[in-house]
Amino acid sequence: MDEPARGPVVAAVDQGTTGTTVCLLDPGGAVVGRGYTAVDPVFPRPGWVEHDPLALWRSVVDTVAAALADAGLRPADLAALGITNQRETTLVWERATSAPVHPAIVWQDRRTAAACERLAADGHGEAVGTRTGLVLDPYFSATKIGWILDRDPALRRRAGRGELAFGTVDSWLVWKLTGGAAHVTDVTNASRTSLLDLATASWAPDMLDLFGVPAELLPTVVPSSRVYAHTDPDAFLGVRVPVAAAVGDQQAALFAQGCHRAGQAKNTYGTGSFVLVNTGAAVPGPQRSLLRTVAYQLDGEPVRYALEGAILSTGAAVAWLRDGLGVIRDAAETAELAASLPGNDGVYFVPALTGLGAPHWDPRARGTLLGITRGTTRAHLARAVLEGIAYRTRDVVEAMAAAGYPVTELRADGGAARNPWLMQFQADVLGVDVDVPDNIETTALGSAYLAGLATGFFTDPAALADLRRVARRHRPATSRGRHDGDYRRWCDAVDRARGWARD
Ligand code: G3P
Repeated sequence: MDEPARGPVVAAVDQGTTGTTVCLLDPGGAVVGRGYTAVDPVFPRPGWVEHDPLALWRSVVDTVAAALADAGLRPADLAALGITNQRETTLVWERATSAPVHPAIVWQDRRTAAACERLAADGHGEAVGTRTGLVLDPYFSATKIGWILDRDPALRRRAGRGELAFGTVDSWLVWKLTGGAAHVTDVTNASRTSLLDLATASWAPDMLDLFGVPAELLPTVVPSSRVYAHTDPDAFLGVRVPVAAAVGDQQAALFAQGCHRAGQAKNTYGTGSFVLVNTGAAVPGPQRSLLRTVAYQLDGEPVRYALEGAILSTGAAVAWLRDGLGVIRDAAETAELAASLPGNDGVYFVPALTGLGAPHWDPRARGTLLGITRGTTRAHLARAVLEGIAYRTRDVVEAMAAAGYPVTELRADGGAARNPWLMQFQADVLGVDVDVPDNIETTALGSAYLAGLATGFFTDPAALADLRRVARRHRPATSRGRHDGDYRRWCDAVDRARGWARD
């Protein structure tokens, strides 16, 4: 007998820094199909990181098709589609033709460090922090937009005439999926541009002035969960499907990890690592080194906020061991190598490959390896990289405690949550339990949940939170104090990593 059809399904498209993942969920929330396509960023100069916008778009269509094939389903089985994405990455395209006018400038790109330093020297840091919740750093979209428009005076003129559109990756994908019918960005992605007034969740005219961004470029800010428009059958697999969610990948993970109540925290270990703690419906108070950001907004409901410790480069350092140095075959090997040593033998690594984010905010910091001797082996390198990832998380968790948001339990996800040595070391250096769910692709789950809620495919956010199952709980095996000396030594290494890069 033929297998029963498993449609309808909701599709989650997770367009990340190094790849596009698609998961198909059935009405019970089970993943019934999956696809993945690698999308390699390019590094045209030291500190620069770009994507081909059309390659990102093609990867989405191809990966949805692959996931449908994996599940034995047809495009007509798609009940809704949700997007989650690498945040801050900046695109500008022509409205008339949908042609990008420049490669996408990726969130990791440091080319606008000098522009941020000038704004800081002119005393604008506090106003930016108060209005947007963000710090002055090249990480965010606003200075990247300025950089694109300043390449060519004609572009700035055309932007002012309304001929061009700006968007983060969510906005670009909704535009392409709907054949240009919707130019929107969800409120979580908008909160990463440095152009959103965090308190009102609308574009801030003073920030548009400060960063020189014409209002004519901007998408409409929308909730994270709502039917924005339908896919254009000519562009998307011959079907009209409601595009019903867009949400930054870290916020999607927060939602899928069931962190719906104030005080609950997660860390996603991807290209970078991002600790977010839900702070509820009130805008968190001013911060110096942590980001205040939108957590999510359901349709017709108030905006929820979060405090975020953004660590810009963690999994990227493991990828560098594999692809840059060739000292490991795959990421999983780092766990065996680290465990093969009784200690780190004084070898420390600061994973500042694209500068340092929270709580240091130094775009000129660079990756730093200290303590090498003739006896240093690839096991030491692997261990130093994993330790560096865990210590960076301690950096931001300590900053959160100082800000009045102690993390008492951490929900971990993302690729490196599969690394048992890292998760145990993380629990040890933080002194709190680290829980890993059975499905670590929480970013995709989050956007599927939000798209399902917008279309009636799912009805109850609390029931979705209950779907989460803890697969492994790592309890601290040693006292946190045992790691204090090593952590302080590593903090010394951070000081040496700072301010290294020159223009
Ligand atoms: O802010 C950048 C973040 O959204 C990127 O996430 O998963 O591509 O490392 P990821």
